[in-house]
Amino acid sequence: MEPRRNLFGLSAQAKALLIEKLSSTASTRSSRVTRRLAPESEDRTGRLDVSELEGFREIRMIREAAEFLGIADPFFRVHDGIASAETTIDGRSYVNFASYNYIGLNGHPDIVAAAKSAIDRYGTSVSASRPVSGERPVHRDLEHALARIHGSEDCVALVGGHSTNVTVIGHLLGRDDVIVHDALIHNSIVQGATLSGARRVPFPHLDHEAADRLLRETRPRGGHALLVIEGHYSMDGDIPDLPAFIAVARRNRAWLMVDEAHAIGVLGPRGFGSADRFGVDPGEIDIIWMGTLSKSLVSCGGYIAGSKELVDYLKLMAPGFVFSVGMAPPAAAAALAALELLEREPERVRRLNDRAALFLRLAREGGLDVGGSIGASIVPIVTGSSIRAGRLAHAMFERGINVQPILYPAVPERAARLRFFLTASHTEEQIRDTIAILLEESRRVASEPSDLAAVARHLGASRLSS
Ligand SMILES: Cc1ncc(COP(=O)(O)O)c(C=O)c1O
Repeated sequence: MEPRRNLFGLSAQAKALLIEKLSSTASTRSSRVTRRLAPESEDRTGRLDVSELEGFREIRMIREAAEFLGIADPFFRVHDGIASAETTIDGRSYVNFASYNYIGLNGHPDIVAAAKSAIDRYGTSVSASRPVSGERPVHRDLEHALARIHGSEDCVALVGGHSTNVTVIGHLLGRDDVIVHDALIHNSIVQGATLSGARRVPFPHLDHEAADRLLRETRPRGGHALLVIEGHYSMDGDIPDLPAFIAVARRNRAWLMVDEAHAIGVLGPRGFGSADRFGVDPGEIDIIWMGTLSKSLVSCGGYIAGSKELVDYLKLMAPGFVFSVGMAPPAAAAALAALELLEREPERVRRLNDRAALFLRLAREGGLDVGGSIGASIVPIVTGSSIRAGRLAHAMFERGINVQPILYPAVPERAARLRFFLTASHTEEQIRDTIAILLEESRRVASEPSDLAAVARHLGASRLSS
């Protein structure tokens, strides 16, 4: 997502004025570091002064503003036990809407047993990259299972979901190429695109006609074109028209990559993801399927499923695979056991979708803004202001409900929200109670004034006195 530079609803101009006012000395910025004007004040020890880094001052301002507004920091809370429909924080039990444990598999006895048995057999690490001496049978077993559910010829699994996108996109594309992607695409794809050096062209969210036009306009003569979408968008819980994007990719001779991080275990009658939902035969099309193991599959890692040639190429060329350790045996075994459970127990997916649809319907009936969510597992409640989102999350927490606010700059200020992740383990009663509390608290929070001028005054005063 392209963050819009505005803080707590202040326009860019007002924020510029505010920042200017907050600065005790005028400053100029390089792309990464705020330079100091007075050389005599420079730290001559050579130590990195983190406060010089771009963004540091912004973090501090956001923290000070939150403190001024009485909003507790919602990040890095320490959970005890397995986070599912409920969780324990500081000895108190909460109804939990902040886990990716979509189909309730975390802690399942079969998965725990598989992970333990992999440790008994192979230890906790494979101690080397797979090409060197890190290959274990569980890696290929997992990859074959992932290729099976995607209907692909083969698959390669890597140690992290984020790093999979970075290394694969970063290495597949180069300076002569173009990457056309949804404007709300995940950060890992933007990072990979930046690393590749290819031209990066975002298209408006879900708009396949715009993607078509932009591909036509920007496709380089000699180079490649990659079109990237997510199967199920993590911020909004909405989905692209997959058949339309397939047609766009074909028309423009572009590779199509679909990030299924939030689609596996969630979309389609079997929970096999976007192709399952749209009835597309994935074997017939040359799609690059990307996924993570950290959500429905309750492990840690990322993967690419696709043609044999693509997987072969990545296993020999992608730096994040070749120069990085193989997946830890218990992580690979856990993901494999989770996949087998998904295949055996599709009713988990139905239950998840039913619970999410109930949440979505009740929220809509209560007049809340749920954006374009389809109610498969992710439902945003858009407040339109970071202050209101922070206050509402804080109020929900006080009432025993754990939900994360998503604030600027993760989303544009006007799209600030609470993000509810539903799981198959939530009960109907938990959902009905949560919506009742949410309606009550959002009315209360909406009636509280958000005095931005007072926030700015406070930030100015605290900066000048620090
Ligand atoms: C769409 C998408 N892709 C990739 C990732 C990265 O996956 P991981 O958290 O497993 O590294 C995420 C993480 O939330 C995601 O939402």
